[in-house]
Amino acid sequence: FSLTSLSFDIFLTDVCYLDHAGSTLYSEKQMSNILSDFSNNLYSNPHSNSTSSKITHDCIDQVRYQILNHFNTNTDEYSVIFTNGATGALKLISESFDYNNGHFVYLQDNHTSVLGMRSNAPNVNVLKHNEAFEIFNNDVTSILDRNAKNSLFAYPAQCNFSGTKYPLQWIKKTQDGALSRLYNSNKWYCLLDAAAYVSTNFLDLSKYKPDFVCVSIYKIFGYPTGLGALLVKNESERVLIKKYYGGGTVSMALSMENIAIPRPILHERFEDGTISFLDILAIKHGFDTFKRLNLNMNLISEHTFSLARYVYYQLIKLRHSNNEPAAVLYHDTIFEDRTHQDGIINFNLRRSNGEYIGYAEVLHIANLFGIQLRTGCFCNPGSCQRPLNLTSEDVIKHYEKGHVCGDQNDLIDGVPTGSVRISFGYMSTKKDADEFLKMIGECFVERPCVTKMPENFGILKENYLKTFSLFPNSSSTTDDEINKHKNEIKNKDNSFSAPKKIEIDNSFSNIRTINGSLENIYIYPVKSCGAFEIDSSWRLVLTGFQYDREWMIVDSSGVCLTQKRNTNLCRIKPNINLKENLLELCYGSKKKSIDNMQF
Ligand SMILES: Cc1ncc(COP(=O)(O)O)c(C=O)c1O
Repeated sequence: FSLTSLSFDIFLTDVCYLDHAGSTLYSEKQMSNILSDFSNNLYSNPHSNSTSSKITHDCIDQVRYQILNHFNTNTDEYSVIFTNGATGALKLISESFDYNNGHFVYLQDNHTSVLGMRSNAPNVNVLKHNEAFEIFNNDVTSILDRNAKNSLFAYPAQCNFSGTKYPLQWIKKTQDGALSRLYNSNKWYCLLDAAAYVSTNFLDLSKYKPDFVCVSIYKIFGYPTGLGALLVKNESERVLIKKYYGGGTVSMALSMENIAIPRPILHERFEDGTISFLDILAIKHGFDTFKRLNLNMNLISEHTFSLARYVYYQLIKLRHSNNEPAAVLYHDTIFEDRTHQDGIINFNLRRSNGEYIGYAEVLHIANLFGIQLRTGCFCNPGSCQRPLNLTSEDVIKHYEKGHVCGDQNDLIDGVPTGSVRISFGYMSTKKDADEFLKMIGECFVERPCVTKMPENFGILKENYLKTFSLFPNSSSTTDDEINKHKNEIKNKDNSFSAPKKIEIDNSFSNIRTINGSLENIYIYPVKSCGAFEIDSSWRLVLTGFQYDREWMIVDSSGVCLTQKRNTNLCRIKPNINLKENLLELCYGSKKKSIDNMQF
């Protein structure tokens, strides 16, 4: 695989951006082309029927074709409904799917946007990660019980936590009734959450045909944000019942009688209100960017996977000087094959004494290094709980102790509440990967650092092969045959057994060893203002040093002022007079004192 960078024009060239699974970057040319298009053409409300409105309507239809073409399908097979992100697409299915008392089944590793669908389903069931692989690794034997229940299985084409790619073969197996034995229902529909997958992979809808697919546009092109699409297999549209209507989604509506006739064309029926037409038109420039840069999704997938694979093997081998591993990685694969793994690395760091380092600490250090990454549980509690060994009781306990999703409460009783994620996009470079590794080596590893494969790597490999059913003819092999094959792997593939000799890693040798000594302590009593030096004994409170980050300055509407917009704030110097219980704010020769330190 190639680690060379794919060409890209970007505004901010000195940024080390590693959150492409959150949202990828837009190119400079892409944005200038959008501006030029919108400045030179008049686009208007596509429901208005004026000339500009008709042009807008036609251009939007062309974007629908482009989207279908991107997924190797056409209007005979699929329809595109524009939504508010992938979440909007999932919500649409949740509100319209006609279960007729059937089941909603979802995978443990689904995003919260899928978990929310439970609230509209009559019967809800979750499939654990291993359980799902066990069921789908077997051949489907169809059951003849013909009842009228409609059931829906939702799973992610790719997990946004770990980058695991779930087999697309599950789509057909679902439709063929693989879950019928477990749940009493015969008619199965498959909802593929492709939001993470399609950002860096080719989804071929001529080969894999889920009934419903949701995607987010900004994850593919970086812009426009807040726009997604639901792709519906035409033959499955009959199970979508439209309830609410608004804007142009009706052919006729009466005000004095409760009568409204929904439009016959699927997307016209489901796109309530005025669609975000300028955003939709901007998608064309995303496709043009790919064309201009000579990109295709397979190239992107290979590139992002290669970068992640490189980082994975650097991190998994990284140890402190006492030979203790520096990182714990959370993956179902060993980055052997991009069919099963995307360009995402998820991990936590540990100190040389084995203690976990909270993800907020890693986030703050990364910010200081100009590295943009993401921490927490990534709106995917199931995926996060599984490798972190957190039971539902643990998560409830963390919540009761004050941890909520997205906060910086990273360790509770020494146990991580989440993790750190880096993710690559097509514009990522090896330099980005190296900058990240340098930051980890410099700040979180005790020198001299050691590199050595983990002793349990053979087991990781075995689990991976078993999960993805990669032992030869695994569906029909006996346990004895599988064990024989496992032994062959162990004996044949020495690269995965722990090396006898410990190697000192040269790639990290150019990193300075810092022997620090504490010279001053500063606190920042008022947000965005200057520092105050502590030069006497000082109280430690629950949040750290007393009066550190205690106050902020707000404008007349109560909005906090920060240095990002009000750079002069840094010239306000706070002074805390403990004896007189006074906070002084000095700006040049001006001084304001606040008694009792109360604003
Ligand atoms: C797998 C998956 N599903 C759904 C979503 C929700 O997408 P959006 O925020 O664009 O609605 C995301 C977003 O990260 C995702 O990764």
